[in-house]
Amino acid sequence: MAPHRVPRKVGVVGYGRLGQSLVSRLLAQGSGLGLELVFVWNRDPARMAGSVPPALQLHDLSALGERHPDLVVEVAHPKIIHESGAHILHHANLLVGSPSALANQTTEQQLLDASHRWGHAVFVARGALWGTEDISRLDAAGGLQSLRVTMATHPDGFRLEGPLASAHSAGSRTVLYEGPVRGLCPFAPRNSNTMAAAALAAPSLGFDNVIGVLVADLSLVDMHVVDVELRGPPGPTGRNFAVHTHRENPAEPGAVTGSATVAAFWCSLLGCCELPSRPGIQLC
Ligand SMILES: NC(=O)c1ccc[n+]([C@@H]2O[C@H](COP(=O)([O-])OP(=O)(O)OC[C@H]3O[C@@H](n4cnc5c(N)ncnc54)[C@H](O)[C@@H]3O)[C@@H](O)[C@H]2O)c1
Repeated sequence: MAPHRVPRKVGVVGYGRLGQSLVSRLLAQGSGLGLELVFVWNRDPARMAGSVPPALQLHDLSALGERHPDLVVEVAHPKIIHESGAHILHHANLLVGSPSALANQTTEQQLLDASHRWGHAVFVARGALWGTEDISRLDAAGGLQSLRVTMATHPDGFRLEGPLASAHSAGSRTVLYEGPVRGLCPFAPRNSNTMAAAALAAPSLGFDNVIGVLVADLSLVDMHVVDVELRGPPGPTGRNFAVHTHRENPAEPGAVTGSATVAAFWCSLLGCCELPSRPGIQLC
């Protein structure tokens, strides 16, 4: 096992809504928390001009090792995890903000291999998933029988690909997909992260048996709604343990990330700095 090391130097990959928020917090509060921002990378570097000090802008992601990060936070797109996740793990712990990438078994295996090879952890941000620890505990105890995550928002909040991109909403509320989370992630890579986090929190069910439901709802102009429904073992009378959480997260119209999720990511960043840097996947 790799020696425990508290991450101090942080790199941020992606400078959209989440990246901008994390970078401004790191610049404003980082030193007091023992964290130093060592680079920011964005696909379009022009977006960083004027707000990220030039010395912190990284223009070539493959050169991130030169900044000696302890932790790299991905808040860009699952594609970055597919293409660069293993490379990042060569140099640092990785906080995955787009866990839908892990629905791809090749990517998951590459990350696990790199994590063990280089002794770095793969942290996964829970994002919008409420009750992550409770789900994990029930799963670890062998009691989780089913888990279903429904994500509903206005169609403008979706970034859909493949067959889902041409799916038409009929009426005010349309179920665009209902089935295993693994089947949804490639076609809704930016809107299935909460479901992917649930699949990782519940490895006994995993991506093939956690059910994801994606709903286009014209009434949810400024809100992302996530329902988590799970069933546990039956009690003495035969009635099953059951939990249903309903999370209404205010969001700017058209945004893929709701307001409370931005705060949750900052907590994940701080949280993973407290966790042991052990190889493998850990939710935080
Ligand atoms: N885990 C969760 O629950 C959760 C919640 C919200 C967002 N997310 C994910 O976090 C990521 C960032 O979210 P955001 O709200 O900041 O998004 P955003 O659209 O505001 O910003 C994304 C940034 O990544 C860049 N980007 C987009 N596609 C890219 C690609 N193919 N390669 C490299 N860079 C690319 C964009 O230029 C932009 O700077 C997204 O993948 C999103 O799906 C996860």
